[in-house]
Amino acid sequence: MGGYSIEHIRSLVEDARVHRDVYIDPEIFDLEMERIWGRAWIYVGHESQIPNPGDYFITRVGKEPVVMTRGKDGQVHVIYNRCAHKGAKVVERTCGNAQGFRCPYHGWTYKLDGSLQGVPARSGYADTGFDMKDPRFHMQKLAQVDSYRGFVFACQSKDTPDLKTFLGDAAATLDNMADRSPEGELEVAGAPLQYVHDCNWKMWVENLNDAMHPMVAHSSVGDAARRYAAQLPEGTPYPREAEIIFPFGSSYKFFDEMGVTTLPYGHGYMGGEMSIHTEYSEIPGYFEAMVASYGEERAKQILSQNRHNTIFYPSFTAKDAVQAVRVVRPIAVDKTIIETWHFRLKGAPEDMLKRTILYSRLINSNGSMVGPDDWDCYARMQEALVSQSYEWVDMRRGLGKEERLDGKERSFGTSDLSFRNQYRAWLDYMTKDVEDREAA
Ligand SMILES: [Fe+2]
Repeated sequence: MGGYSIEHIRSLVEDARVHRDVYIDPEIFDLEMERIWGRAWIYVGHESQIPNPGDYFITRVGKEPVVMTRGKDGQVHVIYNRCAHKGAKVVERTCGNAQGFRCPYHGWTYKLDGSLQGVPARSGYADTGFDMKDPRFHMQKLAQVDSYRGFVFACQSKDTPDLKTFLGDAAATLDNMADRSPEGELEVAGAPLQYVHDCNWKMWVENLNDAMHPMVAHSSVGDAARRYAAQLPEGTPYPREAEIIFPFGSSYKFFDEMGVTTLPYGHGYMGGEMSIHTEYSEIPGYFEAMVASYGEERAKQILSQNRHNTIFYPSFTAKDAVQAVRVVRPIAVDKTIIETWHFRLKGAPEDMLKRTILYSRLINSNGSMVGPDDWDCYARMQEALVSQSYEWVDMRRGLGKEERLDGKERSFGTSDLSFRNQYRAWLDYMTKDVEDREAA
């Protein structure tokens, strides 16, 4: 790969600003796929998508096509979706159940863990060094695969610390999502909502903890919700739609009080005790089911955690109180697919899932009232950052005002702290490979 020296990459990130090239240069994008998406733990899917032996699901880890499978023994595998022979993509269907896989080109067959099962007319390979047991002739396994509360992550580097270390305190968001089920388990409900964004993946990830934009970018929907609420007769409960949309019109003060917390590896979240989801009305039967499972005190404790968006940098974001996750699939420097997956809380009233899906339709879908506002802002950045007029993107709001505690940093909600934390991680990933190589 060409022109970026380690000094050049370092010069792109300062304490309070980043160079525009990080969003628009295809060469940076390729380096990110190798050094960030090739080193970090990347979210693949949820175990409930492949409940039975032989179940599989295809997706991507960065640029790499992969298959998540469940073996005959129940073990979850993540393997590269590439035939060991001529390199054709082996599995084409998004998901299904199979005894194994067969490449459609020359008919090499593989077991669910990627190991080679057979090749046609094998005698022709006699005395060539070909060995069925040699992993070179298997569909390759990703270097590390692990899951946490059913969320399956894979990592292409064997040098990256284990998943638990990588997740750190961000794991508490996944714990809380699962604990909100009276049975302590989540189950994917249906296919994801997919939304193509004409922007760099980092713009989307940054926006998840950007509390300075809702009152501007989403002002029309906030205004509409307020006008609607104002004309309701005194004492009328808000319909569920209004309850979901209304907080998007909250004040700067509200978001400041929500707070932002950052963690190692670029992770972070807004809220914690309160968020835009705190005031949702109760769904009949849910709290009772939680109390029956956990006892009243523990049930209240679980429901009191309320993180707004948790970023698992770079690939995944989760809302504990809404049971939805959004998955980042970068396609090109200016194209990113965002998938929203919805979860059923096992043992909870079905109405909980209905609210989760309603939330996505209203906020996250391409036909929603909120998501397209964001899409438009990202597309404008992508279009205008090519301008030669100025090279930098600013992120100094709240600089130096953060408090440090136990490896975390905290600040007021509209601080740019989360962006600065993401670029610290970005720089670590983007320069570490080179440093390691130079040290070797
Ligand atoms: Fe937004």
